[in-house]
Amino acid sequence: MKRALPVMAVLFLAVASAAPSGAKEIRIGLVTPLSGDVKTFGESVRNSFLIAVEEANAKGGVAGMKITWVIQDDKNDATEAANVANLLVNQHRVKAIVGSVTSKATIPVSDIIQAGKIPTISPTATNPKVTVADGKRKDYMFRACFIDPFQGAVLAKFAQDTLKKKNAAVLYDASNDYSKGIAEVFRDAFRKQGGKVAAFESYGKDDVDFSALLTKVKASGADVLFLPDYYNKVGLIAKQAQERGMKVQLIGPDGWDSPDLVKIAGSAIEGGYFSNHYSPDDKRPEVVAWVKKYRDRHGQVPDALGTLAYDATNMLLEAIRKAGSDDPKKIREALASMKGFQAVSGRSTMDGNGDCIKSAAILKIEGGKQTFVKMVNP
Ligand code: PHE
Repeated sequence: MKRALPVMAVLFLAVASAAPSGAKEIRIGLVTPLSGDVKTFGESVRNSFLIAVEEANAKGGVAGMKITWVIQDDKNDATEAANVANLLVNQHRVKAIVGSVTSKATIPVSDIIQAGKIPTISPTATNPKVTVADGKRKDYMFRACFIDPFQGAVLAKFAQDTLKKKNAAVLYDASNDYSKGIAEVFRDAFRKQGGKVAAFESYGKDDVDFSALLTKVKASGADVLFLPDYYNKVGLIAKQAQERGMKVQLIGPDGWDSPDLVKIAGSAIEGGYFSNHYSPDDKRPEVVAWVKKYRDRHGQVPDALGTLAYDATNMLLEAIRKAGSDDPKKIREALASMKGFQAVSGRSTMDGNGDCIKSAAILKIEGGKQTFVKMVNP
């Protein structure tokens, strides 16, 4: 009886594709947060995954196989992510997975797919522990994006060199690997370049009142406040800072990327800068074509999550094509040796850890919109 519940949940919740009868098929999985606190991330990723798969199927599939899929919601929760990864590997018996989206969900997924030897590519999870734990490479795990040691250093340098800030404060979620990881990278890089970090304070995952922490930030005399978290928390903190009359410059990483950030924070986030994986204003033809395709279908400009999900899915499909087979081991090998893949977010080459070496985009929130500032190369 113990097993009955998850199995039923899958029957009701999983969105599985209809399989064309007769043709040889390959089944792949997607893990993405379709509910919970980062829902906009999950929806963009699902939309873009489906565009890539449908495009491939319209061209006859990959390596002579039609692609079928199973989508699972991890709710941006580590336990839930582990459960659904288990279902994909051991029950749905997928041959490869795209996902998950946030580092806190992807780290548990990576351990399960590694044990099950199912090649998996996260479009967006940037924490180093996704692909390497305790100095050991999880060789079935890949990602289509850069990692936080790069992103955090880019932001520290930008705050100092471009924004001319000298005294930073950092507020982060101690229970979130992504938030804590990049908070530490930023702090260390800011100090190394001669800056001062006068406040480095953490909060809990369910906290909604940041007044005590903001009082400390104010007292520290910081001229820049780094907020490494997802859009919901960032929006809340920004609003409370504004309510206290704080004028400190706000800056943050990719977790800010949601149309909901401005809805939550309003004018409190105006003038803030954040790093991301691409800009829809980029004039490269791949970007222009992709933005049009997504907008025609979903009525809005794709965010970085959608773009990276399209790229990650296409990288996986390319690996299956190259492997010429649905053998997870061969697909893994093809992913590991991927070089110069022409992705929308830029040329992508897997390094020895299964991480992509790529440029970061700096964006500014102006007039309630994301505007492109510049690209930073690794
Ligand atoms: N990098 C974030 C994480 O690892 C996820 C993310 C990527 C969020 C891109 C927004 C945009 O948790």
